[in-house]
Amino acid sequence: MILEALQYAATWRVTKPEHRPYIRYSVNLWSRARRCAKDWAAHEANTRRAILEAAIKLETRRTVVVLGSGLLRDVPILELARAFDHVVLVDLVHVASVRSWVAAKSLKNVTFIERDLSGYDDLKVGRALEPLDFLRRVPWLDFVVSANLLSQIGMGAKKRLAKDGAGAMPEDTVAHLIRAHLDGLAQVPAKTCLVTDIAFEVVDRTGKTREQTDLLAGIEPPAHQHRWTWPVAPLGEESMDYQIIHTVIAV
Ligand SMILES: C[S@@+](CC[C@H](N)C(=O)[O-])C[C@H]1O[C@@H](n2cnc3c(N)ncnc32)[C@H](O)[C@@H]1O
Repeated sequence: MILEALQYAATWRVTKPEHRPYIRYSVNLWSRARRCAKDWAAHEANTRRAILEAAIKLETRRTVVVLGSGLLRDVPILELARAFDHVVLVDLVHVASVRSWVAAKSLKNVTFIERDLSGYDDLKVGRALEPLDFLRRVPWLDFVVSANLLSQIGMGAKKRLAKDGAGAMPEDTVAHLIRAHLDGLAQVPAKTCLVTDIAFEVVDRTGKTREQTDLLAGIEPPAHQHRWTWPVAPLGEESMDYQIIHTVIAV
């Protein structure tokens, strides 16, 4: 609890006011990732491998943008910082310990950007939904990574919808935002690598699946090269009676 409080306080100071409400999510994720480190290790290694596998095929490595960079657990940041001239990390929040770690490693070509990548606010006021439009203005862009972000755009939108109330947003808002991220990646003038969880299941102690949930709001996942499972809540994390296992793809 003390570590979380310190992380929260330090992150508050380096986060712009409109993004401070999201710090709690990032600190909770940081905490859970530490508790579940052993169970998450294979997923994180698979993600890093998929990103490097795509990066290695590039002819030029000037700028890479990582969307949903967050805690840098599944992003091969040292390798990217070595291979590219510039690494741009984009997330709602980058916790203080991650910023300090990057500074301590003297990764001088790494830039942190705080940005809402969902497009929710544009949709709310009826503006064109182009959440990745800003990538067109990034100079020498060779590579864009979406690192376990997409499902979280959907989850975040569901929370905001619950607050905004029925009628404030189009009915198919979550599907719209997920489609817009996939379309945005497809249109970006650079190579891309998408890693995302697409569904989860609740599995009881006997190994029986009790519930299955799609995380892409009915949008068909793109054709992918790799697929694996990620025990987001291993037995004992949320309950002694069940675990929650996500299915992840890399495109
Ligand atoms: C599962 S985590 C990804 C983990 C991260 N790639 C890492 O290596 O630690 C999802 C990330 O998406 C970010 N996120 C969620 N919704 C977002 C949004 N609308 N805009 C930008 N980032 C968002 C969260 O802050 C979080 O860091």
